[in-house]
Amino acid sequence: MQAASIQDFGSHAAVATQTIALPPPGAGEAVVRIEAAGVNPLDVKMVAGHMQQVFPAALPYTPGTDFSGVVTSLGTDAHGVKVGDRVVGRRAPGSGGAFADYTLAQAGSLVVIPDAMSHEQAAALPTAFGTAWQALFDAGKLGAGQRVLVHGGAGGVGGFAIQLAKRCGAWVAATASAGNLGLLRELGADEAIDYRADDFTRLSGVDLVLDTVGGATLARSWQVLAEGGTLATLVDFAIAPRDGRHGSFVFFSDAAPALREAMAMFAEGRLQIVIDSLYPLDHAAAALHKVASGHARGKVVVRTVR
Ligand SMILES: NC(=O)c1ccc[n+]([C@@H]2O[C@H](COP(=O)([O-])OP(=O)(O)OC[C@H]3O[C@@H](n4cnc5c(N)ncnc54)[C@H](OP(=O)(O)O)[C@@H]3O)[C@@H](O)[C@H]2O)c1
Repeated sequence: MQAASIQDFGSHAAVATQTIALPPPGAGEAVVRIEAAGVNPLDVKMVAGHMQQVFPAALPYTPGTDFSGVVTSLGTDAHGVKVGDRVVGRRAPGSGGAFADYTLAQAGSLVVIPDAMSHEQAAALPTAFGTAWQALFDAGKLGAGQRVLVHGGAGGVGGFAIQLAKRCGAWVAATASAGNLGLLRELGADEAIDYRADDFTRLSGVDLVLDTVGGATLARSWQVLAEGGTLATLVDFAIAPRDGRHGSFVFFSDAAPALREAMAMFAEGRLQIVIDSLYPLDHAAAALHKVASGHARGKVVVRTVR
């Protein structure tokens, strides 16, 4: 099979396709013919070797966690899907392997996608939608009528967070650069804030801030929180409570429960999946480069071309 891999940790420019062997499926596993893979900032960090302490990976390493494709065969005791099902799933970061044209996956972790959902759309979901879900509802305990500020609303996690928060009945403000303010409103934001020209600390009484940016954005976010509110960050694992406000690091773990919710939202016509750009597998390095810029609009997706 074809896989876009690195031989050494370092620059994502070194990611190149090569032919490797796919092992036969073990007990409980499915073989999935990958049609599309979503690209996340984590993939860039994995290729750089920056995540070795959290997600140890061996070389050669094929990046990519999020994939969508078709089940082509099943190992023994593999249940929950059948050959021919269109599915979405997530590989563990340390194993990687989604930037390839085939992968193995635990059959029980795969979620069947509706006919109306493209593989590109499905592949955009696992990490970004799952993290947004976990940040808002596990860490943030978000409820109807609450006030939320989503930083990075034009990005992968932020775009889904806006939609999930609106669906649950929250009032939502979100930040992006000037050219993406319209997108924030399309996704449902009640207030769209240009982080370069406008000062988000004019907000107050916010129950939950979702920080996808870190640094000064994170530090200044405490100012807008209501007493008892929560600052949920994706980037600062050392965050601590402050002045009667909660600080919570979100460590994304399991995509499957959130993915089932995503399918329900899609069926209701209430899920927009914004695709920044598509790259063929041979150009996975360029896809990683786009994500590394920090300014993808929605999701970058690698498409297998056969
Ligand atoms: N802890 C975890 O488990 C976990 C899980 C998922 C993601 N993450 C991390 O969370 C971060 C976000 O992930 P993602 O997938 O959403 O990234 P992404 O899709 O690459 O985010 C890109 C977006 O960030 C926006 N942005 C850049 N600088 C900004 C700023 N100063 N203020 C507001 N928005 C800004 C950009 O908007 P403009 O182009 O308009 O500037 C762009 O749309 C990454 O660092 C990722 O590694 C952590």
